[in-house]
Amino acid sequence: MKPLENQVAIVTGAGRGIGEAIAHQLALQGAKIAVLSRSESNSSKVALHLNQKIAGSAKAYAVDVADFEAVQKVGEQIIADFGRVDILVNNAGITRDNLLMRMSSEHWDEVLNANLKGAFNCVRAVIRPMIKARSGRIINISSVSGLMGLAGQTNYAASKAGLIGFSKSLSREVASRGITVNVVAPGFIETDMTSVLSEEVRHAAIAQIPLNRFGQPEDIATAVSFLAGPSASYITGQVLAIDGGMSM
Ligand SMILES: NC(=O)c1ccc[n+]([C@@H]2O[C@H](COP(=O)([O-])OP(=O)(O)OC[C@H]3O[C@@H](n4cnc5c(N)ncnc54)[C@H](O)[C@@H]3O)[C@@H](O)[C@H]2O)c1
Repeated sequence: MKPLENQVAIVTGAGRGIGEAIAHQLALQGAKIAVLSRSESNSSKVALHLNQKIAGSAKAYAVDVADFEAVQKVGEQIIADFGRVDILVNNAGITRDNLLMRMSSEHWDEVLNANLKGAFNCVRAVIRPMIKARSGRIINISSVSGLMGLAGQTNYAASKAGLIGFSKSLSREVASRGITVNVVAPGFIETDMTSVLSEEVRHAAIAQIPLNRFGQPEDIATAVSFLAGPSASYITGQVLAIDGGMSM
């Protein structure tokens, strides 16, 4: 029997990049996956791929995680479709980089709403059934930027550092109900998000990474899968940096 057999996992921002790799890894471990993305086409593509390549059962949902009401509705739909929810991975995230003196109020709000409020919205949608079941795994995807700060990312770093405080408080609230809450903080990972970086920025970033290279989405996915699995039942409120040593 696979470690996550019969479990249901919600992965946000799973239409591509790190989220897609997490969905894939959890499905390989036997979980049924609710693939959430902003766009129907991306989530459907990933769900179809999972159903064809891994004999799992995946379903696609389109939702903006920043929209509280819409997220509660999708949560109800997922529980109606699958009957339960065991794992929530809050992975959806955006950047709107700029120096603070040029940062618009809209870009501040957009990033905080997607990255931080989005996690709150998704937890609110699943926490009652998890408490009732007296078990659950919540894994929030932060960033090296939230640990050490990166110039040009005050909005993003604030949202990602906020996720760490959010996760630690939440882990204390729900530990007695058998629910663990942990954070994975990736460094520079090869995805669409980092494909926009100039060669100059890439070189400057690599110079700060002891392992001297960017990571792959699978580096994050395997750690998330470990934290979601039975071997991690005594780990809660922790932050696991997967960044080639950048933030140590
Ligand atoms: N790539 C990196 O180097 C890196 C480093 C540290 C942290 N992260 C974090 O990892 C996560 C995944 O990043 P990625 O590199 O795969 O990015 P990506 O841009 O390739 O994918 C992000 C996904 O999130 C979805 N998304 C964004 N806002 C959303 C919203 N409001 N509602 C629903 N879905 C939304 C997007 O549609 C997309 O599918 C993000 O939280 C990001 O901040 C990435």
